[in-house]
Amino acid sequence: MHSKYNPILLTGGRGLFGKAFLKKNKKIKKKIFAPPSSKLDITKKEETIKYLKKITPKLIIHAAALVGIQNCEKNKLLCKKVNIQGTSNIAEYVKKNNVRLIYISTDYVFDGKKGNYSEIDSPNPQSVYGKSKLSAENIVKKLNNHLIIRTSFFSKKKWKYKEAFIDQYTSRIEVDKLISKINKIIFTEFEGLIHIAGKKQSLFNIAKKIDKKTKPISLIHYKNLKIPKDISLNTSKWNKFLK
Ligand SMILES: NC(=O)c1ccc[n+]([C@@H]2O[C@H](COP(=O)([O-])OP(=O)(O)OC[C@H]3O[C@@H](n4cnc5c(N)ncnc54)[C@H](OP(=O)(O)O)[C@@H]3O)[C@@H](O)[C@H]2O)c1
Repeated sequence: MHSKYNPILLTGGRGLFGKAFLKKNKKIKKKIFAPPSSKLDITKKEETIKYLKKITPKLIIHAAALVGIQNCEKNKLLCKKVNIQGTSNIAEYVKKNNVRLIYISTDYVFDGKKGNYSEIDSPNPQSVYGKSKLSAENIVKKLNNHLIIRTSFFSKKKWKYKEAFIDQYTSRIEVDKLISKINKIIFTEFEGLIHIAGKKQSLFNIAKKIDKKTKPISLIHYKNLKIPKDISLNTSKWNKFLK
């Protein structure tokens, strides 16, 4: 890690991404603040700014969000509050201070009509969740030293559902593998937007490897859920970065 990025604030440290990040970065644990939402609620602007002023992070990894398509459709206001207002509150501090902001975004900013989306493809989110993440990206984009990472990931330990779509394609990556990749870029000075993901496959293909009992289902029967068909990400830019 570059010594200039000390200390680090990780939002969403108790989530799937956050836990994997902390585990993989045990060696620099003392340099990372990872407060739970009960200690740092990013929707509360004054409290957030006060907390940031106290710890003066040099690098913020912003992974806190309300996640899940259905969860956000059901809780529209909370989704906007956490994902957009929360990001805006952090951005306000970042703007006034010399801080690098890493924003963890999603493949759900795309409509899923074509797949293999690159960084220059136009986003067209269909869900409340996707729209909120794109709005947050647009806030982050205006900041001097920012990196937006679009990705999608899963835990090899558990598939949360009894079923999985045979006809929804993503390039989800196992979360520990994602963190190994992310570690190669966040502590550099690379700025802008980058896709980091795994190979394209159906959700069912991923799920059945985690839990053999997973049942196959089709999007045809779930049209009202606004689930995009193919949101796989093109990672050519990432491959170039590695060279
Ligand atoms: N899961 C995926 O496949 C996926 C794909 C693409 C992008 N992403 C993005 O990756 C990031 C992490 O996702 P995840 O799957 O790890 O999420 P997760 O497991 O649901 O965890 C969400 C985290 O957000 C925190 N949070 C929620 N509301 C908050 C608030 N008001 N103030 C502060 N923290 C709050 C939670 O904190 P507490 O637990 O302390 O309440 C929790 O640690 C998110 O930005 C998500 O949009 C996820």
